[in-house]
Amino acid sequence: MNTFKTFSVFFIIFFILASSTHAHFFFSNPPFRGDDEDTMTQPPCGGSNVVNTTAITPFPVTEGQVTTDFEDGNGVLVISYAPTSNDTFVPVSGNVTVNVPVGIGPKQYVTPVDLSKAGAKSGDQGVLQAFYTDGVNTTWYQCADIKVVDAKKNGASSIVGTTEVSFFTTILISFLMALLN
Ligand SMILES: *[C@@H]1O[C@H](CO)[C@@H](O)[C@H](O)[C@H]1NC(C)=O
Ligand SMILES: *[C@@H]1O[C@H](CO)[C@@H](O)[C@H](O)[C@H]1NC(C)=O
Ligand SMILES: *[C@@H]1O[C@H](CO)[C@@H](O)[C@H](O)[C@H]1NC(C)=O
Ligand SMILES: *[C@@H]1O[C@H](CO)[C@@H](O)[C@H](O)[C@H]1NC(C)=O
Repeated sequence: MNTFKTFSVFFIIFFILASSTHAHFFFSNPPFRGDDEDTMTQPPCGGSNVVNTTAITPFPVTEGQVTTDFEDGNGVLVISYAPTSNDTFVPVSGNVTVNVPVGIGPKQYVTPVDLSKAGAKSGDQGVLQAFYTDGVNTTWYQCADIKVVDAKKNGASSIVGTTEVSFFTTILISFLMALLN
């Protein structure tokens, strides 16, 4: 019986860890429209070229924040915006220096974003692009679908990162351990 309990707990932990495995980098807020390691080198959206209608996140026109998670990387991250992924992406963040040695990550980067730099207006639907390059031979792309809203409205761009996920996971495991004992 104890063996069964132990096995159950390890199985649950394994499942949670496995389900949170991602490619080299990804949008954690707003959530990505698609995440595929095999096509992440393809512009403009890492192979995810259509709107993900289940993941259109309200995002403020000014004073927005994007959170990306890097498993590894040594280069520069830039966030850009376009009305659709067929339009020209315009940078809406500064150049963010990424430095995450292999084995150290994941590390989160929270990047201020000003959509007005790309002419976005409240009410527009559009696409945020995260572009990473090491300046040598590696480029990674990922996109997130957003609905542009007025700045400082409730519900816009709430930050849910891996810290909260880890916290939740710890609580869940503690609960399951208690339940099984
Ligand atoms: C749509 O976005 C959600 C949230 O990021 C993701 O879980 C889901 O896999 C995406 N759908 C597709 C088809 O990639
Ligand atoms: C982008 O262009 C492709 C090919 O020209 C087209 O199939 C697709 O519907 C377009 N997507 C959008 C969002 O306009
Ligand atoms: C970011 O880097 C690119 C390429 O080096 C440069 O053209 C651009 O001006 C930089 N942007 C900012 C905001 O520093
Ligand atoms: C990129 O270049 C570095 C240094 O030249 C090399 O070690 C690495 O294997 C290359 N990566 C790819 C994906 O070609």
